[in-house]
Amino acid sequence: MADLTTEFLGIRSPNPFWLASAPPTDKEYNVRRAFEAGWGGVVWKTLGEEGPPVVNVNGPRYGVIHGPDRRVLGLNNIELITDRPLEMNLEEIARVKADYPDRAVIVSLMVPCEEQAWKRILPRVAETGADGIELNFGCPHGMSERGMGSAVGQVPEYIEMVTRWCKENYDRPVIVKLTPNITDIRYPARAAKNGGADAVSLINTVSSITSVNLDTFSPEPSIDGKGSHGGYCGPAVKPIALNMVAEIARDPETAGLPISGIGGVTTWRDAAEFMALGAGTVQVCTAAMTYGFKVVQEMVSGLSDWMDAKGYASVSDFVGRAVPNVTDWQYLNLNYVAKARIDQDKCIKCGRCYAACEDTSHQAILMKEDRVFEVDDSECVACNLCVDVCPVEGCIDMVRLQPGEVDPRTGRVVEAEYGNWTTHPNNPMARAAE
Ligand SMILES: Cc1cc2nc3c(=O)[nH]c(=O)nc-3n(C[C@H](O)[C@H](O)[C@H](O)COP(=O)(O)O)c2cc1C
Ligand code: SF4
Ligand code: SF4
Repeated sequence: MADLTTEFLGIRSPNPFWLASAPPTDKEYNVRRAFEAGWGGVVWKTLGEEGPPVVNVNGPRYGVIHGPDRRVLGLNNIELITDRPLEMNLEEIARVKADYPDRAVIVSLMVPCEEQAWKRILPRVAETGADGIELNFGCPHGMSERGMGSAVGQVPEYIEMVTRWCKENYDRPVIVKLTPNITDIRYPARAAKNGGADAVSLINTVSSITSVNLDTFSPEPSIDGKGSHGGYCGPAVKPIALNMVAEIARDPETAGLPISGIGGVTTWRDAAEFMALGAGTVQVCTAAMTYGFKVVQEMVSGLSDWMDAKGYASVSDFVGRAVPNVTDWQYLNLNYVAKARIDQDKCIKCGRCYAACEDTSHQAILMKEDRVFEVDDSECVACNLCVDVCPVEGCIDMVRLQPGEVDPRTGRVVEAEYGNWTTHPNNPMARAAE
């Protein structure tokens, strides 16, 4: 059986599945049960300064986007950092770490952007014996209006400054958690690295309003008729997160910086995708909140089975393997030509592919007698829309034309050589360079 043991910044955990900083990690009771269920590590719910804890709303704090089967696709929240006293959290962290030395216990922190505030809290966290800290520069609601969370994460200079304070005043690994509510994720990641961060984790939640009640005209979740923007997470944000992870992994300025991948991880496959794009561990929140702690067991067995099938003995065998395959559009092979092919035995004659292609793509699907649908190669641009909308998996395939074949759409012979936009005759820049 494959070895899922993970070593991230020198912190060992029995598997790469960590719970993200959020309600699942808000207290000792939860974290103990999570470890018993099999989670490899946790990032404790974000701690704030000493003193009266923050106060959450006393009404609904979550909103949701459901799929047609009521599966949770996206979760929105307006929750703040922990609303329990600092001392209570620190005591619990110390007890849990002592009882579970083989699991990763990371403490998430958010205090005001003043060096003294960080100097006050860091020694107290160090005393707990936790394996490291994660700086919450990501929450987009409630705390950001107080100059913390994403208000820091949106200013690279602040990220660098606070990271440096933490590195100077704490001797274990410092992970910087990034907000996706920014134009180009590479800048905050570079700032974290320049400040001495040992790793980045991403993404925190996406600023959002999930819905509006059309009777009361209040955004949901509604507190006495008013709503506020919240943070969006769950399966819906995974593509945003994967792209941001990939951007950091392939940026020459941050390449090699360890990454903990977060955002919509629900199955082992999601985790493997983050890891293939360079994440050394993954963190999970919505899937645990939706399905409970035992969801990790399917993640562990699924990843292990897949690794066995592929011949990977340890996770390091595949971490980062997809990174060299992420490229800029201009380097994609324009001599790669494909056509859609419909498997008539699988087709249920619903006509979705026809409607999609006829109305919004290239009029390349013909409806013949008895609702037999066929692809007209002389029109098909291989856009993949029919594959995406077809309700039957594997019914439509994209099949590559071989070099030497003629593309009936363009009348050109398919070339064997790779050719991209940078040298294409239609590219004015390519012509200017000649
Ligand atoms: C209710 C809720 C509370 C959260 N609280 C925190 C927090 O205190 N600190 C933090 O860094 N992230 C917090 N997050 C963000 C998660 O740690 C995570 O980054 C995000 O949910 C994306 O992961 P997911 O798609 O697996 O949920 C919270 C998320 C949710 C849903
Ligand atoms: S791949 Fe695109 S153009 Fe070709 S048949 Fe499908 S929808 Fe039409
Ligand atoms: S969408 Fe799929 S199942 Fe429906 S008609 Fe087209 S090929 Fe057949």
